[in-house]
Amino acid sequence: MSLTVSVFGTGYLGATHAAGMAELGHTVIGVDVDAAKIERLARGEVPFFEPGLPELLRKHVESGRLRFTTDARLAAAEADVHFIGVGTPQKKGEQAADMRFVDAVIETLAPLLTRPSVILGKSTVPVGTAARLAERVRELAPVGGAAELAWNPEFLREGFAVEDTLRPDRLVIGVDRDRPGRVEQVARAVYAEIIERGTPFLVTDLATAELVKVSANAFLATKISFINAIAEICEVTGADVTQLADAIGYDERIGRKFLGAGLGFGGGCLPKDIRAFQARAGELGVGPALGFLREVDEINLRRRERVVELVTECAGGALNGAKVAVLGAAFKPNSDDVRDSPALDAAGRLHLAGAQVRVYDPEAAANAAAIWPTLTYASSMVEACEGADVVLVATEWKEFREADPVALAALVSEAKVIDGRNCLPVERWLAAGWEYHGLGRFA
Ligand code: UDX
Repeated sequence: MSLTVSVFGTGYLGATHAAGMAELGHTVIGVDVDAAKIERLARGEVPFFEPGLPELLRKHVESGRLRFTTDARLAAAEADVHFIGVGTPQKKGEQAADMRFVDAVIETLAPLLTRPSVILGKSTVPVGTAARLAERVRELAPVGGAAELAWNPEFLREGFAVEDTLRPDRLVIGVDRDRPGRVEQVARAVYAEIIERGTPFLVTDLATAELVKVSANAFLATKISFINAIAEICEVTGADVTQLADAIGYDERIGRKFLGAGLGFGGGCLPKDIRAFQARAGELGVGPALGFLREVDEINLRRRERVVELVTECAGGALNGAKVAVLGAAFKPNSDDVRDSPALDAAGRLHLAGAQVRVYDPEAAANAAAIWPTLTYASSMVEACEGADVVLVATEWKEFREADPVALAALVSEAKVIDGRNCLPVERWLAAGWEYHGLGRFA
């Protein structure tokens, strides 16, 4: 069944979801308060780097199935289902998440709902938010109880956003158990094509759905920090964390995924989500339950310090004046996102400590320069490495993993490489004459 849906918020999540919904056959209206962003999207342009999304977006803008507007009125008048996909960033100077954008959508949209409608929240929110918003919708909507709200968390990864939207591992929908309505049926209709493929469709209460999302991210962050804590032990014992991860990863109960030791996690989700989760637990009076997430955060941040230490050692004990090539600024490959990026943070720390840093990233330089305008940005890997005393690989872009160590060795002043993502073919780099340092191995 083809529906008309709106998506409030057109960032990574909202824009991808809007295009994905159009691909599933629905008529889609993307809504955002940022007129410049809406204009670009309406022309079929994606304002950020996400493989596959520009093609999908253009396809459906051209077919007329996907429109963009700043006018919430239009969405309220035409759509049967309204998705909320706005950001929930960390509050300035606090651990908690900032709910102002989610709240603004409800305050704008609910009073415009003159016919029975369904609101499906996708943003990552502190547990208890959905119940509060559902109450607010009942207060504000002219149709009162006929406007239903449910929570439908999104698990997409940047770099795989289209794939994750169209082929998710599972769908989760949290509904208000005390007010049974048609929201579950509507959600089933929205995702019919995905459900028919056999994708698990889990119906829970509101709080469970909210918690599923933050728990999943807390688990992933914990897994990364676990292996990075072991990496610290490997460094003082001469052990190799990558071999260790392979060996424990063969145990299906553990699994190899997310045991990549290195510079640690960053991005717009994991760091702020574990902080907001702790803050919420504190508010609920169960702070100690998530006390371990503070350790997870600290282990993660210690890796950045360790990299600065390693660069300093490689530079002969002092950073002042040392020429350092930093390869990568994005928080992970196939993304231009530098939010809480370990790569950019390491580059910034080295710069502040007096090193002459030259950063190269295939996609993220413009975003990086907006945060760190005082860093020098090279337009190629070669330019970044010319005359360098130390090369730091900080994001595992394919271009760096597959770089020719022989050619690079000829460019640098000292052939010393720190593999901040344990992603280089070590044998090849050693054979080309490089002094190689990984994280948690051959330190
Ligand atoms: C994450 C979740 O994976 C996704 O399900 C959720 O919806 C949003 O948050 P994303 O932020 O796009 O997605 O990135 P992800 O691929 O999870 O990587 C997060 C960070 O962890 C990156 O900085 C990455 O480099 C790092 N990472 C990942 C490691 O350091 N080691 C690993 O083994 C895996």
